[in-house]
Amino acid sequence: MNAVELINFNTSYGNNKVLKNVNLTFPSNAITAIIGPSGCGKTTLLRSINLTAQMEPHYKSYGDIKVLGESIFEVKDVSLIRQKVGLVYQTPVALPFSIKENVLFAPKYYGIKKRENLNMILKESLQKVALWDEVKDRLNKPASELSGGQKQRLAIARTLAINPQVLLLDEPCSSLDPASTGIIEELLVDLASKLCIIIVTHNLFQARRIADETVFILDGEVIEKAPTNKLFSTPTSEKTKGFVGGLFG
Ligand SMILES: Nc1ncnc2c1ncn2[C@@H]1O[C@H](COP(=O)(O)OP(=O)(O)OP(=O)(O)O)[C@@H](O)[C@H]1O
Ligand SMILES: [Mg+2]
Repeated sequence: MNAVELINFNTSYGNNKVLKNVNLTFPSNAITAIIGPSGCGKTTLLRSINLTAQMEPHYKSYGDIKVLGESIFEVKDVSLIRQKVGLVYQTPVALPFSIKENVLFAPKYYGIKKRENLNMILKESLQKVALWDEVKDRLNKPASELSGGQKQRLAIARTLAINPQVLLLDEPCSSLDPASTGIIEELLVDLASKLCIIIVTHNLFQARRIADETVFILDGEVIEKAPTNKLFSTPTSEKTKGFVGGLFG
């Protein structure tokens, strides 16, 4: 089943057309990578799916986006969409609270109150991102004390704490060392058995390592979408060939 579907989707900021007639489907239980040069619209695409781009001044869109079969523009309460669609940013964001309160922030917002439920969510979310063993003895310490790689895993745990069905990640490893990157890649491959994962990456090797399918976007247009091996080894478009061959971007 397709977890996310963009149908003739267009966006602009003022007169700047950013996404142009995008038609894309993203399956459940798989990782799709989005690649393309800086400024081509990758972040705007992710932020449109969880309705955060819509908060920017001068942002306009037309066309449709469906999440789990339902148009996001017909849902009255945007928090319902953000519960289904989590977004992890490029720079690890630790909220100015303890490690524990970072994970429990959203579950509490969505009304979970029972201490035993919260404790279970805390442990399970941190275990999913392989952080539990590293932090279980300092859950009440400020999250700001964690390393960059740990903060990024915490940000993913925070997103997973409300059980999203779609996980969007915008260059989540760009500020991390190879070891932390490896941990996060393993984690994403593991999570893909249960989720639709869409990852924007500038690291073409990363896309090749973990993505089932890869989408190449250039100047707001989808140039090609294919199984990752195919897109890199035998792309259909000359433009894709140029990009994956390192000729531009
Ligand atoms: N909040 C905003 N207000 C106005 N224009 C914006 C805003 N965010 C992005 N843009 C414009 O939209 C276009 C696409 O930007 P976007 O951030 O989606 O690109 P990107 O592919 O993620 O680039 P990068 O690889 O550098 O992160 C750019 O022309 C950018 O200037
Ligand atoms: Mg971006």
